[in-house]
Amino acid sequence: MDSSPHSSLTGKVKRRPWWVKSLTGWSYVIYEMLFQRMQARHLKNPLPLPPLDNVTCIVTGSTSGIGLETARQLAFSGARVVMAVRNQSVAFDLIKKWQTERYGTTLLSIEVMELNLLSLSSVVKFAKALNSRSKPLQVLINNAGMFSMGEPQKFSKDGYETHLQVNFLAPALLSILLLPSLVKGSPSRIINVNSIMHYMGFVDTDDMNFTLGKEKFNSTKAYSSSKLAQIMFYSVLQKRLPLEAGISVLCVSPGTVHTNVTRDLPKLVQGDYNLIPVFLFSAQEGSRSALHAATDPEIPEHDWPTCAYISHYCRPTRAAKEAHNTRAANEVWEKTLDMIGLPLDVVEKLLQGEEAMYKWGIFIKRFMMILHTISCSFLHHGIVIVNEIGQEFVSHKDNMDISLFAAQSTISMMGGNPSVRLGSIDIHKVAQHYMSTDEADCSFTCPAALAADLSAWQHRRALPLLVV
Ligand SMILES: NC(=O)c1ccc[n+]([C@@H]2O[C@H](COP(=O)([O-])OP(=O)(O)OC[C@H]3O[C@@H](n4cnc5c(N)ncnc54)[C@H](OP(=O)(O)O)[C@@H]3O)[C@@H](O)[C@H]2O)c1
Repeated sequence: MDSSPHSSLTGKVKRRPWWVKSLTGWSYVIYEMLFQRMQARHLKNPLPLPPLDNVTCIVTGSTSGIGLETARQLAFSGARVVMAVRNQSVAFDLIKKWQTERYGTTLLSIEVMELNLLSLSSVVKFAKALNSRSKPLQVLINNAGMFSMGEPQKFSKDGYETHLQVNFLAPALLSILLLPSLVKGSPSRIINVNSIMHYMGFVDTDDMNFTLGKEKFNSTKAYSSSKLAQIMFYSVLQKRLPLEAGISVLCVSPGTVHTNVTRDLPKLVQGDYNLIPVFLFSAQEGSRSALHAATDPEIPEHDWPTCAYISHYCRPTRAAKEAHNTRAANEVWEKTLDMIGLPLDVVEKLLQGEEAMYKWGIFIKRFMMILHTISCSFLHHGIVIVNEIGQEFVSHKDNMDISLFAAQSTISMMGGNPSVRLGSIDIHKVAQHYMSTDEADCSFTCPAALAADLSAWQHRRALPLLVV
């Protein structure tokens, strides 16, 4: 364990300019890439695992890269593995292949379940199905993630920026909702595949979605910030879990790994990336920190204010300084629960066997949000949309598609019912249009005619407020 004294920060975080953060962050990434083989020379590849009979593990995103290797090695060591994936046919093909590799030995115990992290309702459905079995769960590995390098900002149908939702919000919802199964399987572990890039992240709880224009969006900021938010959120979760629950929370860094994570890069850059495998870990090497965290009998002493953090060479290490700020971490905790529609005492409720989702509180919450929204619309001169669960979307003149998108996701959440008009625009029609598009395509572009209508409407300097 890093022996340097930790100071638990409690004051306001002073944010360094992005270019300074970015420079420092990339220097960490380059250092990791150049020296990771040397640092991990004490590790075997593959990492030897103990027999894992009677251990149930969920691995999200196990159809590719680090997750695929993690699921394969856990299954080969005897664990019951649930592959939580969005592309089930790929998972079934993998199982066939693995079973052939193991021909003549015992059958692998692997199950495939659908999970699309771009949809919070898919997470809820997955967790309900899993919990309804009343079986113990020992390990949850939140591995699935995305990094759309250089791509423009996109939003999920829930209205959240896609890196934020896939890398952080949806896995956070999954972890919380699976607490009942994890308690049954205790001692159990939640493992989050994090990244050294969290060092360049920053978390502004007022604008985690990058929609207020306070910080200009780019995918590197979104990715690194989602990973920093992840450490902060799970640090608070670890603190709130009583010892008797027997659930440990860990974040791991896999190293710089040769996987499909570069799928969105231009072909030329992908070619360059493929030229440097000497430095990059293979997916098997990259899976070692998650496998170590899942199977090592020793859980490292977690060093509040952060949860345990395991490096790419499987040693406890320190997360970035920002993650040590308890006040900011608590803000992230509260904001996140709000965004995923859970009450602040959700952990306590679930551990006592109560329901987790908002039920009656939603109406009070909505009323409060309407009041808040009216004041916001005076301040921002933008369109403000508040949806059923109190999420608020503020859009500025140059950012209109976000509001429409939010309206669409809201209406889809409400079952497509309300007849809502925004100026001359029938939001319901817009919603219908976007609901008929491919589920997987979460990008949204405001049709030119609608955009023009909206601009004209805004130019009349009304204070538009839409509550759906
Ligand atoms: N590679 C690196 O150098 C590196 C470094 C640090 C951290 N990491 C982290 O390691 C984790 C695994 O990444 P990887 O490098 O192995 O990348 P990868 O090869 O691209 O694998 C990512 C996995 O996540 C799944 N996924 C993506 N979006 C999803 C969604 N909306 N719902 C469900 N599953 C989804 C993918 O499924 P599909 O195949 O269906 O798209 C895939 O199985 C990520 O959290 C990443 O941030 C990677």
